[in-house]
Amino acid sequence: MSENKYFITGGAGFIGSNFITFLLKKYRNIKILNFDALTYAGNLQNLTTIENDPRYSFYKGDICDSAAINSVFTEFQPDYIVNFAAESHVDKSIENPDIFVKSNVLGVQNLLNAALRCGVEKYLQISTDEVYGSLENTGYFTETTNLNPRSPYSASKAGADLLTQAYFHTFNIPVNITRCSNNYGPFQFPEKLIPLTILKCLRGEKIPVYGDGMNIRDWIHVDDHCSAIDMVLNKGIPGEVYNIGSNNERSNIDIVKSIIHLINDLRSESAISDALISFVEDRKGHDRRYAIDASKIRRDLNWSPSVSFETGLKETISWYLDSPQWIESVVSSEYRSYYQKVYGKRR
Ligand code: NAD
Ligand code: DAU
Repeated sequence: MSENKYFITGGAGFIGSNFITFLLKKYRNIKILNFDALTYAGNLQNLTTIENDPRYSFYKGDICDSAAINSVFTEFQPDYIVNFAAESHVDKSIENPDIFVKSNVLGVQNLLNAALRCGVEKYLQISTDEVYGSLENTGYFTETTNLNPRSPYSASKAGADLLTQAYFHTFNIPVNITRCSNNYGPFQFPEKLIPLTILKCLRGEKIPVYGDGMNIRDWIHVDDHCSAIDMVLNKGIPGEVYNIGSNNERSNIDIVKSIIHLINDLRSESAISDALISFVEDRKGHDRRYAIDASKIRRDLNWSPSVSFETGLKETISWYLDSPQWIESVVSSEYRSYYQKVYGKRR
């Protein structure tokens, strides 16, 4: 039986690196090419456990570079393309939208062109629930909810979704789009709420909570996101969109307080106090609530999540407590100056 070949972009980032590790554990007869530009968010240390696996290789490249994509495709001839590569942080998109349009829209068009030229089993665009906009206190995002992106990040992701659907309708490329809610787990860059809060607790620094802290996100463990992606790659009907979520709505302030509480449970050192919490200026255009209805993927593809939020959050915190070297490696001077720029004025 011939091996399946996966061309994975953004595989040095948080979700992409977890997905590569997931695939190598689950399947024996596969080849993976990880194509990643290694931006500030890309870190090959996320992949040290598998980097010497003969089924895995890495190519440093930008998805906007069509010559590089074409030459790698000609050589590798992928069956599956899974596009994780993107600028992924909303706050950064408010500071500098340009790079979001380049990587998240033009980069996707480049990949779709390459998929069209080479012919693939499946092109999977990893999208986000943020393309649907913001909810009030009730209701859920379904796959038929109108797109209503409200940040440069989510607008760029929505643009990519529309291009992906257009290439399906116009050129018949077998595509799927997945729209997942907020992920957490190991190897997440500490610019996002959960790892940022853990890092701040470990350093005894103020934890910035935007606005009133009552914005709601719907959390899913990255392992559950990976199993859903695998399911969509194998069984997703071409042209279809699948929401992915795990029904874990929490306010930001609840998340922050839970992390403080869990770290205090896990560590014997002096207790962290809620006094570290600092309410700061709100994010511009801050979406109030996200909540995913994932009944389509549950019903049609028989997928379900398996990690409870309580267990997943505790394990994630333990992972960060046990990984000081990884934390040091990502908290570079570039990160510090970015952090100062975005958060300095919020204090
Ligand atoms: P991340 O920021 O941790 O990783 C992004 C990766 O993409 C990095 O390795 C980076 O080097 C690479 N990259 C960026 N621009 C590139 C380019 N032009 N060419 C090649 N590589 C490039 O992001 P993440 O949190 O792992 O998110 C991965 C994908 O999942 C993104 O598309 C994001 O929109 C989507 N998503 C994320 C979440 C979440 O909660 N993190 C939820 C839903 C969907
Ligand atoms: O919903 C999926 C999306 O989730 C993904 O598409 C994005 O790539 C990912 O970054 C994430 O976006 P959010 O903006 O929801 O995640 P973030 O961790 O940046 O923020 C989560 C919530 O916490 C949000 O309401 C803003 C708030 N927040 C965030 C930070 C970084 C704070 O209150 N303080 C902070 O310091």
